[in-house]
Amino acid sequence: MLPAVKRDPIGVFLTAAHRFGDVAYFKIGPRHGYLITNPADVRRVLQDNARNYHKSPLYDKLRMSLGNGLLTSEDEFWLRQRRIAQPAFHRQRIAQLASTMAMAVRDTAAAWETLASAGRPVDVGEEMMRLTRTVVVRALLGADLGPFATQLDQAWTIINQHVGESFWSLGLTDRWPTAKNRRFEAARALLRAAVDHVISERRRTSPDSASDLLSMLMGRRDEETGETMTDEQLRVEVTTFLLAGQETTSLALTWTWYLLSQHTEARQRLEEEIDAAIDGRPPEYADLASMPYARMVIDESLRLYPPAWGFSRQALADDELGGFRLPRGWLAFVIPYVLHRLPAFWQSPEAFDPDRFSAEQSADRPKFVYLPFGAGPRQCIGNHFALIEAQLIVGTLAQRYRLHLVPGHRVEPWPLITLRPRFGMPMIIERRTGR
Ligand code: HEM
Repeated sequence: MLPAVKRDPIGVFLTAAHRFGDVAYFKIGPRHGYLITNPADVRRVLQDNARNYHKSPLYDKLRMSLGNGLLTSEDEFWLRQRRIAQPAFHRQRIAQLASTMAMAVRDTAAAWETLASAGRPVDVGEEMMRLTRTVVVRALLGADLGPFATQLDQAWTIINQHVGESFWSLGLTDRWPTAKNRRFEAARALLRAAVDHVISERRRTSPDSASDLLSMLMGRRDEETGETMTDEQLRVEVTTFLLAGQETTSLALTWTWYLLSQHTEARQRLEEEIDAAIDGRPPEYADLASMPYARMVIDESLRLYPPAWGFSRQALADDELGGFRLPRGWLAFVIPYVLHRLPAFWQSPEAFDPDRFSAEQSADRPKFVYLPFGAGPRQCIGNHFALIEAQLIVGTLAQRYRLHLVPGHRVEPWPLITLRPRFGMPMIIERRTGR
């Protein structure tokens, strides 16, 4: 299946799930694996028998760019890093960070005044990338990217595309000095320089005073050895948070604006909710509870366009999935894009319908058919952070603006490491009258 999977991974996995049901065998190049779509099997791999699985060798490419950090490491080392970072993501802590998020999006709302008056199309994907990067950098790293701010998005686009497109290859040509590989190396060097800048700025300005994620990473001593993280490990973790925190959230928002532009009724209901809940002043953390529809819109957008559209695991020992033996070394593919469209669990799966996420409608749905943030011990550490951030951003911007897709623009999901819009998302920003 290698050529087909390389060409159209989403199409191939969707077709296989529809044709073959719960377990579909794949041979992709030298690798064997099962696409699993029964929630019980997904639960076994990600949660109940998670100790029997590592992230698959397909993550090696990502490891090459990010290093061996929280997202890519395994076992005791992973657990240690997770424990160090976890306190920065407690609900209470995130509630405190929400004011930093709210301030960042107000800056964007102010800057959009000029864009709205100009009436020219703006790439909303780029706008969201800039905004979510500002949020991660300020809220978690308490830093400023200085001269690297604008170059970083381009560097990450190159890395994402390179890793995404070579995901399924064996890496035989990775070290050849081709133009593509050189571009990739230059992007990695830039990323590294940006991260070094963040760390050295922090060391220079406020080494001990802050209590954010970066200070936890910098200050934490190993209980046994008393050592702090090495500079190299610190660099890896900062890179991980910088990228994992900005890219996925910005895509979730970009797809949300696209969906709202295509569904006038949902957009109106959202606007009415915001107007009734906060009456003109910009939303804050305390307002989010009175904006349930905004959250349902985001949930539905994460269903249709999950930024982490697919991931995979490798079995350390033989296992059994759906009555089939999964031999040691084989892969299990967990593909949220497919799970989120299974007709057995989602009526009219292609339709945009935020009401699916009302309390009543979600009550009987198994947890393991909706996995935008993964599940089990390796579940996204930033999920609450991302959802609060997304709700604040949607609330603040939809309160003042409407976004319209440029007429005739083609929108197509592009499954790299993350699910990007292949041709970008040019939109016209319209100021809501009276706002
Ligand atoms: C809508 C936004 C987001 C989505 C859809 C998302 C999705 C995911 C998924 C699916 C995983 C698990 C991957 C796997 O099991 O192989 C994951 C892990 C992770 N995410 Fe997120 N994420 C989002 C936002 C964030 C944010 C805001 C941060 C940090 C600020 C973050 C940091 C991480 C980290 C560090 C991991 C690795 C956790 C571990 O293995 O212990 N993510 N994310």
